[in-house]
Amino acid sequence: MLKALQKSGQAVFEPLRRVLDHSFDPGLNPLNHLGALTIYFFWIVTVSGIWLFLFFKTSVSGAFESVEYLTHEQWYLGGVMRSLHRYASDAAIITLALHMIREFVYDRYRGNRWFSWVTGIPLLWMVIPLGITGYWLVWDQLAWYVALTSAELLDWLPIFSDSMARNFLSADALSDRFFTLMAFVHLIGLPLFLVFGIWLHVLRINGPRINPPRALMAGSLAAMTVLSFVYPALSQGEVDMTQVPRSLGLDWYYLLVYPLMKTWSPAWVWGLLSGISLLLFVAPWLPSQRSKSAAVVDLDNCNGCARCSDDCPFGAITMMERSDGTAFEKEAVVDPSLCMSCGMCVGSCPTATPFRRHSALSPGIDMPDLSAATLREKIQKVSNKLTGNQRILVFGCEGHNKTEKLKSRLNDSETATVDIVCMAQLPPSFMDYILSRDLADGIVLTGCPGGECLYRFGEQWTGLRIERRRDPRLRKRVDADRIALAWQEPWSGLSGIAAVVAALRDSLRPGHIAEQGADEKISLPPARVNSWKLPLTVTAYTLFMIFVGWLSVWPRYQLIGQGQAMVSLSFSHAGQRIRECRKLTQEELNELAPNMRKIDDCPRERLAVRIAFSSDGITLYEASRPPTGLWNDGESNVYHRMVIPAGKQKLFIGMVDSDREEGFDYSLEQEIDFTPGQHVVVEFDSIAQSFVFKEG
Ligand code: HEM
Ligand code: SF4
Ligand code: SF4
Repeated sequence: MLKALQKSGQAVFEPLRRVLDHSFDPGLNPLNHLGALTIYFFWIVTVSGIWLFLFFKTSVSGAFESVEYLTHEQWYLGGVMRSLHRYASDAAIITLALHMIREFVYDRYRGNRWFSWVTGIPLLWMVIPLGITGYWLVWDQLAWYVALTSAELLDWLPIFSDSMARNFLSADALSDRFFTLMAFVHLIGLPLFLVFGIWLHVLRINGPRINPPRALMAGSLAAMTVLSFVYPALSQGEVDMTQVPRSLGLDWYYLLVYPLMKTWSPAWVWGLLSGISLLLFVAPWLPSQRSKSAAVVDLDNCNGCARCSDDCPFGAITMMERSDGTAFEKEAVVDPSLCMSCGMCVGSCPTATPFRRHSALSPGIDMPDLSAATLREKIQKVSNKLTGNQRILVFGCEGHNKTEKLKSRLNDSETATVDIVCMAQLPPSFMDYILSRDLADGIVLTGCPGGECLYRFGEQWTGLRIERRRDPRLRKRVDADRIALAWQEPWSGLSGIAAVVAALRDSLRPGHIAEQGADEKISLPPARVNSWKLPLTVTAYTLFMIFVGWLSVWPRYQLIGQGQAMVSLSFSHAGQRIRECRKLTQEELNELAPNMRKIDDCPRERLAVRIAFSSDGITLYEASRPPTGLWNDGESNVYHRMVIPAGKQKLFIGMVDSDREEGFDYSLEQEIDFTPGQHVVVEFDSIAQSFVFKEG
């Protein structure tokens, strides 16, 4: 099931990757920089947000006006900053969602990666409210809807005793304090948590890529700026709580679940959100992965050079004080809970040399599942079967998974394949060994390029070691022309690798003359210079921006139908005590301690308040609201929104706060001629002890 899900995810991702590979230069495919792009978009959000804050007025009356000023009067700067702020936030959600899906479908979320995965989930819970509070601050009609719906969601949680949503039903209930609180949460609180969260998220990754390539940064900023001029972000009309807007342009990136509140109860929405989060939290352990053995250090062979610790992509190796009394200063210590069993540390260990004759091949660090000694044996075994004058040994890795197919395709005795975990597991001394011991005439190293590598640094470390730019370097005596590289996306066919094998074989033939640049390494030919590259890149950016801009307001969300109006019931009222107070008798008083003697015995608990609301005799709402408070002694909260048809309606509200069975303790009947979109709030005046129907 999980595998099928991953496979279908890959089936969607891969065509997209191919298309983007054609549109961008190699290494610039945005799908390989999703996490870094998300961080970059947050930078744009931060810088543009600072500009907006300079002009923003944190008050009910000033908020809308100040944003309008920026949008229209200062459109060339403030307006652009506002649009950049919105579009970069939206783009961040796209890259964030793709980042998460990518890690899942390519199985990069389990093992030691559980930490990045699990710490990624709270980031979602910070980013989404960050966007929601941003929409709130603009205080336009959308903000009103966002405020009301968010408050209704929050009211379900047992945090506040009073209803928060009530503050957004009528203009006189709203105070500036809410704006100060929202501004604090949006500008300081959540961003600080987010920075800390991102730091924690990449903490266990060695050399995390937190900056995308410059060309991608420049391209996406330019595209977003163009979008900001062409399709600037606008407010959606000033708030008028007496009138409900028929439809709103929702930002679906942040407000996707809000429309659910129309038909679902807050409990169901919270259930859905917590269910998804829970599923994500346990995902790295569902089902449990076949555990591979972690790298093991052999102190007798470790000289404390720290190369393994530098190369480990997952920070699983720490250099510690020497513990065995030898003259070396440090020793490598592997944390098995962090080790992903990629074997790169073996590739970097100078003691992993197959040339040892008199002692067993036992390097300072080794992989129990495929030790250096076993690897040497494997190489010897397959090369013994090779015949011919241009014998080639092809190394394949776990993520790339191509050797089986290659073997059956070539089906000759001049080519053999050996599988290792990751290409960087193969120490350069093994290549030296193969060529100098005449086990083969040439070597082809295959694997996934750059960001595709399952273990992150396979291509990078291997390339640098062969180019003699990173320890352990390929020895000078080794003819590097006999080593060819074939880095190719895992989904591409076999023809690339087969071509590299053929080219290497050709180059090994006696009398072969290199066609061009004799010192050029044999590898996959660089992608042909595509004259369509620029138009394709521009098209990719344009489509991305259309997608960003489109879902930030479209499709419009219909709040109420054409001929509809809205009624909100919103009040608090304390039910009567569960029984009447009574006077204590003298005997009862005598039994009490002197300081506890009170003449009246009054119970704390109150009765629930029952309400019925009807229109033209049809009951629209009936409820029994329990008292609030730990001791059931607080007021009962009544909050309910209803959509009703416009036109003349005879409204009736009745309430019982006692234990009576029949009739109502308080009631009001009134005929109202609703205009479409009109909003009426039903309140209970606690001083006059009567209901009122008032404009929202
Ligand atoms: C604010 C949101 C996020 C940002 C800015 C972010 C950023 C990053 C960055 C920069 C990396 C390092 C990439 C590399 O060096 O190759 C990373 C890795 C990772 N992220 Fe995120 N991330 C975010 C949210 C998430 C979420 C929601 C999930 C999944 C629930 C997630 C899962 C992962 C995983 C599993 C890795 C490790 C990949 C590996 O080891 O190859 N991230 N993230
Ligand atoms: S195998 Fe080695 S390099 Fe790979 S994660 Fe484990 S300790 Fe690090
Ligand atoms: S690379 Fe090898 S010798 Fe160097 S510290 Fe690591 S285990 Fe020890």
